[in-house]
Amino acid sequence: MRTKSIQNIVNFEVKPINPIAPYLGGKRLLAKTIIPLIDKIPHNIYCEPFIGMGGIFFRRTKKPKCEAVNDINSEIVNMFRMVERFPDYLADMLRFKICSRAEFKRMLATPPLLLTELERAVRYLYIQKNAFGGKTFSQVFGVALERTRFDSERIIPQIHMLHKRLAGVYVECLPYQEFIKRYDRPDTLFYLDPPYWGCESFYGKDFFSRADFGELAKLLKGIKGKFIMSINDVPEIRAIFKGFHQKEVNTRYTAGTQSGKKAAELLIGNIDLSLL
Ligand SMILES: C[S@@+](CC[C@H](N)C(=O)[O-])C[C@H]1O[C@@H](n2cnc3c(N)ncnc32)[C@H](O)[C@@H]1O
Repeated sequence: MRTKSIQNIVNFEVKPINPIAPYLGGKRLLAKTIIPLIDKIPHNIYCEPFIGMGGIFFRRTKKPKCEAVNDINSEIVNMFRMVERFPDYLADMLRFKICSRAEFKRMLATPPLLLTELERAVRYLYIQKNAFGGKTFSQVFGVALERTRFDSERIIPQIHMLHKRLAGVYVECLPYQEFIKRYDRPDTLFYLDPPYWGCESFYGKDFFSRADFGELAKLLKGIKGKFIMSINDVPEIRAIFKGFHQKEVNTRYTAGTQSGKKAAELLIGNIDLSLL
């Protein structure tokens, strides 16, 4: 079904789904705040330069004509590609896997370069599903006593839902600068969720550095489209992005806990977020 806003922007309704695996910095709690803001900003092209497991992207209930997601981590992008292209093979390969610490360690010790693309996707999903707190580095096997983290009965339907949702979405594996430049148009909306200040290396040693915040601010100053970014609220970030609108929100960081620790998060954008 189609819905039209007064700006002649076309949106399609879409079924929200949960991300396929937990992820450090995933936006489960902030999604309720961020998604309604995104929906209020007219756009024909929706882009996420730092997709991770897609904590915002997959929970949206509306989509525009064009969507593009990106991550520099080629294991993530390969996993999405395999879900898009070979969901049944992937499901078959996961069907008989049990939830096992020994298997988790074996997978962690296997270099992805020795594997086929499908095996790499299986490895990525198995590790990320079982990793304590959705951690992306120094991963250890997490035991959840209420229910196992990896259950083939649950992951197979998730693969099929993800396959459906990814239809028609561009999936890129570029440094964020290149991705933003390629997709920037006057009717583009970027939602950015970069690594947090102080956690720059959590997603890979050479992907993102402290200097990238300044580079990002400079790049975003010159774009034709609109953007919203979520980031931890620290004085250094406020200073680097002082030329933009800033709005505080409260959330909880939940890595490995039920209730989480209260945390201040900042939304930054080139539109007045308080008016939305
Ligand atoms: C905070 S996480 C995003 C979490 C995501 N919003 C979610 O809900 O799962 C940041 C992501 O940025 C990616 N990343 C880090 N440096 C990057 C770079 N230079 N270009 C593109 N992506 C990068 C990481 O691999 C990681 O997946």
